[in-house]
Amino acid sequence: MTTPLNIGMIGYGFMGRAHTNGYKRVGDFFPELERRPVLKAACARNKENIQAFADQWGYESIETDWKALVARDDIDAVDICVPNNLHKEIALACAEAGKMILCEKPIAMNTAEGEEMCQAVEKAGVVNTVWYNYRRVPAVTLAKQIIDSGKLGRIFHYRANFLQDWTIADDLPQGGEALWRLDVDAAGSGVTGDLLAHCIDTAIWLNGSVTDVSAMTETFIKERVHQETGQKQKVGIDDACAFLCHFENGSLGLFESTRYARGHKALYTLEINGENASLRWDLHDLHRLEMFDHADEGLTRGWKSIHVTDGDHPYMDKWWVPGLQIGYEHSFVHHVADFLKSLETGEPCHPTFRDALETQKVCDAVLSSAAERKWETVV
Ligand SMILES: NC(=O)c1ccc[n+]([C@@H]2O[C@H](COP(=O)([O-])OP(=O)(O)OC[C@H]3O[C@@H](n4cnc5c(N)ncnc54)[C@H](O)[C@@H]3O)[C@@H](O)[C@H]2O)c1
Repeated sequence: MTTPLNIGMIGYGFMGRAHTNGYKRVGDFFPELERRPVLKAACARNKENIQAFADQWGYESIETDWKALVARDDIDAVDICVPNNLHKEIALACAEAGKMILCEKPIAMNTAEGEEMCQAVEKAGVVNTVWYNYRRVPAVTLAKQIIDSGKLGRIFHYRANFLQDWTIADDLPQGGEALWRLDVDAAGSGVTGDLLAHCIDTAIWLNGSVTDVSAMTETFIKERVHQETGQKQKVGIDDACAFLCHFENGSLGLFESTRYARGHKALYTLEINGENASLRWDLHDLHRLEMFDHADEGLTRGWKSIHVTDGDHPYMDKWWVPGLQIGYEHSFVHHVADFLKSLETGEPCHPTFRDALETQKVCDAVLSSAAERKWETVV
């Protein structure tokens, strides 16, 4: 016997689709779970568009006002898949209404908003999670297991990149549908909150807290037409950001993100170097984890590429047979599965709002360091 978990989805864009796919697939591949997502309602402002989405993906009903969705008695969990400037208001309303919340990243526009959200969910006692999905790519989860086993020894370095090239055009407008990421009022920041937030969340998860940062940002195209006003307006987001940091464990961090690296579409790479071994991962080859183990016999010692597809590997016993890989969308299926599991065990589904606030604090410190041109402590 399974119990339904009625989902109310807000937003039908990139993440609305990725999460819905997760809800639809999870019961087939994780049949042991007791709760089953039911696509109860989808919400967006444009009635025609949201109806088309609901019809295509199988939602039972639609709403055009998120407040009406949050107020519905037949919704158990609300999924926030809208631009960053809406996360806080929706999350506070959900907490007030006693709904579970699955919120997209970054948790908020800034630390102050994120703190308010944490306090609201903690006071209301509602279950919450933030979709930092890269934690649930099996190769990244395997990296976490290897690091936690102590195999790397003392950690010296952590480095990560997230490189894209889609905004290298000065006639690209900012704001409104699809281009809200270029509008600081909707996004809060540019690559720092959009891309580096992923790198920071994974880094904190794998290597512990960041204590202080020294950053530089650049906005290469200073003015863009705003889609909503039709006027050329100042661009307030960071197009590129690089920062150095210290981790609490004494290791050094180096992070870079940009939307101006011609040729790169979504190159998220990370590497961690320990005294005894190193690991490296690349989103473009997401089912592989590379490892160098200094304890290997000298003649054959070298970087090895682990094809993370075996039944022993994290999540992989749920899918095909050894040797057959899975992809990006499965990280969201895994997140849904872990969320449903957390409802059974009563344990939090990490990253929680509180976990995601740590990443937000680093993002804020990075932006402040770049603006002030000085080292900034993460508080
Ligand atoms: N976890 C990840 O890897 C990942 C990837 C992409 C985006 N995101 C995050 O997901 C969120 C959404 O990003 P996206 O790429 O899906 O954006 P998107 O532009 O594809 O979709 C945004 C959706 O929000 C809807 N929307 C906007 N204002 C609304 C309102 N007032 N009421 C109801 N609906 C409204 C739009 O109609 C659209 O369907 C952002 O916070 C973003 O940072 C996370």
